This record gives sequence, structure tokens and C-alpha cells, in this order.
Amino acid sequence: MRILIINGPNLNLLGHREPQWYGNTSFEVFLEELKSRFVQIHLEYFQSNSEGALIDYLHQHGPSADGIVINGGAYAHTSIALADALAAVGRPAVEVHISNVFAREAYRHHSYLATRCIGCIIGLGLEGYALAIEYLLRHQAARSGKVQT
Ligand code: DQA
Repeated sequence: MRILIINGPNLNLLGHREPQWYGNTSFEVFLEELKSRFVQIHLEYFQSNSEGALIDYLHQHGPSADGIVINGGAYAHTSIALADALAAVGRPAVEVHISNVFAREAYRHHSYLATRCIGCIIGLGLEGYALAIEYLLRHQAARSGKVQT
């Protein structure tokens, strides 16, 4: 099983950036923890501050992935193009936001990506990524007839 974890703009600054919203842990450190929690699956991580690079990555790596965990950062609220790329790839995807975007500015309340995802995990911190992976595992098992989601 191969799952892509895709982070959008400014998420390379996790651990330093606005810790009141995003905590004190860098994604690189958290990724190592994720890998040790999910040794049975191949986790592939990509982060970019560029919308085009995120789209290109999805085009290239998305079609062969079993699932996608995506935190588009601010592009979630603005990018029809990134949402179209998710739709084009057509793989099971879960959207994550570390902070509770509904407790923040109104412009963060809408996500173009959400319409292209099975569901969204919002405001549960970095743990949201682990929950998204767990869901995608169950989703794939259900599709192969092993368990129910
Ligand atoms: C975010 C929420 C977005 O509104 C913001 O632009 C981010 C991070 C989150 O994970 O909480 O960059 O996606």
C-alpha cells in the first residue's frame, strides 16, 4: 500500500510558524513518527510552496497511489486547479487541516479540495494525518472486501 502525503505552502515552516495554531513539531520529525507507526505501508511525502509543483506532483505520482492525504494549506481555500488535479487523478483522498479552520477567519471556511475528497479531518493537530492514513487503510480493506468502513 502506497500513500502520498502532500503539504502545500508554508507547511515547510511547521515547528516555527504560528505555534498557537500549528504546534511546535516540524513535519520532518512528525513524518518519522508516522513511518514508525505505519511500518506496513509506504508513505511518500511531498511539500511545495508552488501551486504548479503540487499539481505536477499529483499528475505524476497520484495515479499509482492507493490513497492521498492532502493539506493544501491556503491553496485549499483558493485553488480550483489543485482541486481539478485531485479529481483528475481520481484516487481516494482525505483532506487534513492542522488547525480548526472553522474557528478562524471566514476565508478559511471554504475548501475547494473538500469536494474532491472522501472526507476532511480538521483541527486535530498533526494527529489528523495519522487518522487520515488509518481511514485510507480501512477504506482500502473495505474495497477489497476485508472490513467495513
Ligand atoms: C492550514 C489552514 C490554512 O487555512 C492555512 O492557510 C495553512 C494551514 C492548516 O493545516 O491548519 O497554511 O491548512
